[in-house]
Amino acid sequence: MSGPGQRTQVGIIGGGPAGLLLSQLLHRAGIDSVVLERASRAHCEERVRAGVLEPGSVEVLEAAGVGERLRREGLVHHGIDLCFAGARHRIALTDLTGRSITVYAQQEVVKDLIRARLDAGADVRFEVEDVRIEGLEDPASTIRFRHAGAAGVLECDWIAGCDGSHGASRAAIPAGGVTEYARSCPFAWLGILAAAAPTASELVYARHERGFALYSMRSPEVTRLYLQCRPDEDLAAWSDARIWDELHGRLESDDGWRIREGAIVQRSVTPLRSFVIEPMRFGRLFLAGDAAHVVPPTGAKGLNLAIHDVRVLAEALIAAYAGDARALDQYSARCLARVWRAERFSWWMTAMLHRDERDDEFGRRLQLAQLEEVAHSRAAAQSLAENYVGACLTA
Ligand code: APR
Ligand code: PHB
Repeated sequence: MSGPGQRTQVGIIGGGPAGLLLSQLLHRAGIDSVVLERASRAHCEERVRAGVLEPGSVEVLEAAGVGERLRREGLVHHGIDLCFAGARHRIALTDLTGRSITVYAQQEVVKDLIRARLDAGADVRFEVEDVRIEGLEDPASTIRFRHAGAAGVLECDWIAGCDGSHGASRAAIPAGGVTEYARSCPFAWLGILAAAAPTASELVYARHERGFALYSMRSPEVTRLYLQCRPDEDLAAWSDARIWDELHGRLESDDGWRIREGAIVQRSVTPLRSFVIEPMRFGRLFLAGDAAHVVPPTGAKGLNLAIHDVRVLAEALIAAYAGDARALDQYSARCLARVWRAERFSWWMTAMLHRDERDDEFGRRLQLAQLEEVAHSRAAAQSLAENYVGACLTA
């Protein structure tokens, strides 16, 4: 299949959740696509990433025909805890919004999508190298790449850049074609997966003098935990004992709640940052997911934004092939309204919960006052909850 001159309607660069879901939604509407992914299938299926789905995201995955295992194995949560000054305070998401969240790992979403795509006979190519885009302002565009030792050429009506925050598609846009808005945070998260049964039934976000920590889970047997650390943190300096010591110290509350230790089966450091590309389109190229915007993970929005972009893009492409191209022109504005709301929420959650070495004691008191307000004011808790479940993210 890698010979020169192949044609498809939509060329999709990147086989993460965004690229695979777009391919699946287009397929269900009879639109042909090819997915070009740099990594191996095993790498895509094993990469440990996010894990919280808004109800709207679950609906999109169900509509795409990949909801079956998600419904069976996803953990439905009706609240989250905020822990500060030694006490846990529950934000009752479902009581406040009528909605719940589903904890289901991103790599499980990816596995379900790859299986669905391959079962349908889709053209999904892994281990593709040197992807280059040409003719973004021409009547048709071209993607050149290398696959299985041979040069490939794909002629496309449209190209979807779904290749994450370090992909090739954004780089194909000429200087001045889009604007990037970015803000870096002086924080990173050290994340671990532990073979330990969770001791809490909901997520715990902790603000502590030693730094932020997050208690999450993947299944009744696996706990997912994060610790704020420096962006240049050396993982080698973190023994298992040091990681657990910090997690105990930052997460455990005065009510006697204790975390359970287990074998650490995966560990990584992820820097926190925010960026947005405007507009999310240049000529025949549409950017979706992390290729167009990144949020710090504190609000659990990254995967949900990617799913929302792709739903809007699939609808727009389906309308365009039915003869109405206006939706394609509205794609960027429709997505960006939600993106900026999520950027604001993620930045606010991050600022409220992390220890910022640049801050003074006054700033730390303000942080605690903000947390007290969220814990004790129904209006403040409701605002957090609506953002968290994604109920209010569209203008
Ligand atoms: N050519 C082909 N594929 C590429 C290239 C390239 N030059 N560069 C990157 N890719 C692939 C990556 O290997 C990855 O599989 O693009 C895919 C992008 O996937 P993600 O990074 O998962 O991005 P996206 O699909 O937008 O999903 C967003 O990822 O980082 C999380 O929090 C984020 O959960 C959110 C989700
Ligand atoms: C996760 O379970 O990986 C997770 C949960 C909530 C977040 C970020 C990550 O805010």
